Amino acid sequence: MAEKLKLGVITASTREGRRADVVARWFLEVASARADLDVVPLDLREFPLPFYAETVPAKLAEARYPADDARGRWVAAVAPLDAYAVVTPEYNHAYPAVLKNALDHGYAVWNRKPIGFVSYGGVAGGARAVEQLRLVVIELQMAPVRSEVNLALVHRAFDEAGRPKDASHVARAETLLDDLVWWGEALRDARRTRPPRT
Ligand SMILES: Cc1cc2nc3c(=O)[nH]c(=O)nc-3n(C[C@H](O)[C@H](O)[C@H](O)COP(=O)(O)O)c2cc1C
Repeated sequence: MAEKLKLGVITASTREGRRADVVARWFLEVASARADLDVVPLDLREFPLPFYAETVPAKLAEARYPADDARGRWVAAVAPLDAYAVVTPEYNHAYPAVLKNALDHGYAVWNRKPIGFVSYGGVAGGARAVEQLRLVVIELQMAPVRSEVNLALVHRAFDEAGRPKDASHVARAETLLDDLVWWGEALRDARRTRPPRT
């Protein structure tokens, strides 16, 4: 049997009463049902990172974080994974600061890996947050995939069973996961056979 792709699903809201719980639970359920993925939930609440305050860029700092604090636990959790999906709300036409801080804490751990986005918010469904995230992750040498899920009016987008009322979101989630698997396998093979220059 083919080696499963290791997918990290990052929950990017940490506030009390977050809608993220509903969105992430649903997306994790869809991803975990697939035979081609090993899914690792990465809830930023479990990694209470300080604001980035290292004396050097993460490229140098990431190998030196103490193993037993949130910084060390965060990069250790992220490093072995092959691909990432971020479940993110839109805050003031962007993404939450806790997510930027979490991305900033790594460098090589992110390099040459695919990333996809599940966004939610008001009428724009978080699309503006995703557009900005695409620019950020390119600087981390990641490959953002085209497919995305954008859940508009999130406060009424889910039924009582926790599933999106609009079934097209399920199809979009599967397409996003298909893309992450395709890119994830291709880039995992490439990292192994042709280790990149840093
Ligand atoms: C600080 C803040 C700013 C927000 N700005 C936007 C926005 O610009 N566009 C939008 O569609 N929704 C915006 N919202 C609404 C959020 O997308 C919505 O509350 C969502 O549930 C937040 O995700 P969370 O509950 O998981 O934290 C904002 C919410 C907060 C808390």
